[in-house]
Amino acid sequence: MSDRDKIIVALDVESCDKALKLVESLDGYANFFKIGLGLIGRGGLELASTLKKRGLHVFLDLKLFDISNTIKNAVSGLCEAKFDFLTVQGDPQVVKAAVEGRGKSNTKILAVTFLTSLDRKDLDQNLIIPGEVQTLACSRAEKAILAGADGVIASPKELSIIRENSLCMTKIIVTPGIRPTNSAIDDQKRVATPYEALKMGASYLVIGRPICQANDPLAAYEEIKTQISNN
Ligand code: C5P
Repeated sequence: MSDRDKIIVALDVESCDKALKLVESLDGYANFFKIGLGLIGRGGLELASTLKKRGLHVFLDLKLFDISNTIKNAVSGLCEAKFDFLTVQGDPQVVKAAVEGRGKSNTKILAVTFLTSLDRKDLDQNLIIPGEVQTLACSRAEKAILAGADGVIASPKELSIIRENSLCMTKIIVTPGIRPTNSAIDDQKRVATPYEALKMGASYLVIGRPICQANDPLAAYEEIKTQISNN
């Protein structure tokens, strides 16, 4: 797999028109795009289908969470469009229902462990979950894989520990919280550079603001590839 295939550009912009312009500005360079909740109310699903028809890879990041019957129905419907990746929350019953709903489709079901914008302090203040974030993320990853997930979404800080787990060793790990050298961290907390994340075992990197908010997204994208290959 080339570096190009490992970078997923998160289309975190305000409209599908802007998203399409961004895709077109990366034409011939990037071939994998993530559409998330920010675009869903603005025609994001139609955009996702358009990108698929253009031969691009699409990651639908909906982080689904509901009762099993609803998850199964939702995933079954979404998989008709043959998106490449779809996220659900990493709770085993959600993952299991998603895998059932996916049926024979090739869409990979990826489980969210913990958001990369959360750290131990947030867990103390809001979620009251005891334990080290790394251990919790690894345990969630393991349970999601046991429930049938094809892979997990995990921060760079949990990559090594998840990769060491025998159940997760060969699975897909998609890593957000990526910040190229010299770029702003924004609201992310558990971050790493693209090179570090790949070295620690990420299968794919999700990169949003460092590319979509750059004055020249193509230059930013190419700089990330240079940073990866020059290390
Ligand atoms: O702009 P930035 O590179 O921080 O964007 C990261 C993207 O990855 C966002 O679209 C966000 O929704 C997504 N994401 C994340 N943490 C997760 C799962 C997805 O930041 N655990």
